[in-house]
Amino acid sequence: RTAPIGVTGLGVMGANIARNLARHGHAVAVYNRSPQRTAELVSNHGRDGTFLAAGTIEEFVSTLEKPRRALIMVQAGAATDAVIEQLAGAMEHGDIIIDGGNSLYTDTRRREAELRERGIHFVGCGISGGEEGALEGPSIMPGGSAEAYEAVGPLLESISAHVDGTPCCAHIGPDGAGHYVKMVHNGIEYADMQLIGEAFQLMTGVLGYSPARCAEVFAEWNRGVLESYLIEITAEVLAQVDDATGRPLVEMILDATGQKGTGRWTVKSALDLGVPVTGIAEAVFARAVSGSRDLRAAATGLAGGELATTLGEALPGVDEQSFLDDIHAALYASKVVAYAQGFNQLTAGSEEYEWSLRPGELATIWRGGCIIRAQFLGRIREAYDADPALPSLLLDPYFRDAVEGSIGSWRRVVAAAALMGVPVPGFGSALAYYDSVRADRLPAALLQGLRDFFGAHTYERIDKPGHFHTLWGGDRSETTAG
Ligand code: 6PG
Repeated sequence: RTAPIGVTGLGVMGANIARNLARHGHAVAVYNRSPQRTAELVSNHGRDGTFLAAGTIEEFVSTLEKPRRALIMVQAGAATDAVIEQLAGAMEHGDIIIDGGNSLYTDTRRREAELRERGIHFVGCGISGGEEGALEGPSIMPGGSAEAYEAVGPLLESISAHVDGTPCCAHIGPDGAGHYVKMVHNGIEYADMQLIGEAFQLMTGVLGYSPARCAEVFAEWNRGVLESYLIEITAEVLAQVDDATGRPLVEMILDATGQKGTGRWTVKSALDLGVPVTGIAEAVFARAVSGSRDLRAAATGLAGGELATTLGEALPGVDEQSFLDDIHAALYASKVVAYAQGFNQLTAGSEEYEWSLRPGELATIWRGGCIIRAQFLGRIREAYDADPALPSLLLDPYFRDAVEGSIGSWRRVVAAAALMGVPVPGFGSALAYYDSVRADRLPAALLQGLRDFFGAHTYERIDKPGHFHTLWGGDRSETTAG
């Protein structure tokens, strides 16, 4: 027997993707370095469909129909390189290796180029949706040649999530495009989660809500414009009670957020491209702050100043319900900023690497299956359908109205947080970004003056072209710079 596709690396994600393929009627070759995993998959889930268990990588490869399609689901980095090498050694011209891990896009570009030299197609494929998504239908972001997509696209589309009959899988672009898009997806995921965390912190810190009450609010919000997977599971996590203590579980979890790297990579790339992704950066740094246990232990005694202790003291005349509505509006506006920034980064990355990404299509395949899936993505798709060259989501009429309608709330929330000592780096920096991009004048002019003063770095003028330098150390007359 032969199979149109094989999966190697049968951890939870790999095993669930294999089961998903089998459930969709595709025979799947399966191989894992330790054979026990393979045996477990076949014995526990054999009823899902046809699994062809292989004991060696050679057997795995020989079970595949030509062109061979092998999906790697192992840890990003050295482990992925090792498996690629083994597979490539056993494969032939025209065969296809698909990497479904969270690989760094620069690794994917390198691997794709190296394998192309050897006549093997390499598809760097972002897969989002966690364990459940892998089994029930993830969002899939494959990058690589059009020829390779022709050979793997239909299989991948068949197992992806679908929204309104459209698969949440599409050919993203050449070489590292798929992994780049997945990386920015994760960056946006970081920002989204940070903003949700801040909304929770405001509910507890300003309004004095219990986690259970917050859970009710989030469940309610999940029925409106914020409807999304992350808001839905926020309600679930906040409602969870710890068995051992009877207290809300969230109060028993150590407040130090882990990270595996994709958020950090997103920000590094944005820095190189010069794209302000302040929402994602604040989220990455907020995780770093949370994890700085020694610093936090040393700093707990620092004074907060004369803090307002109640909402009424911070914002006279604002009542609880209207402040809760303010948090909702501020969360929405900040979320629009984070997505606007993320999509700007995708556009900049696309230009840098000549990927011809289509932002509307990315929004389309993120509507279902992935961690940031939300009603909201449908709106983003509409925005880019209406204007594929939109300079910022903030300028799309729908989002512009939504944000402009939220400004008062947004300012009240950031002000109350500052007055009451509740840290809201995500809300605060999103508002600062919004005020920066809409400002007539920025203090950048002063900075240019300073740079010219200490380093003769020159400046431009608003009234005539050219570069100028003031003789700061001399008679302070202005000269034209070469
Ligand atoms: C997804 C998730 C997934 C993973 C993140 C978590 O889209 O399915 O993003 O890829 O859960 O990598 O990343 P951190 O461990 O860095 O939070």
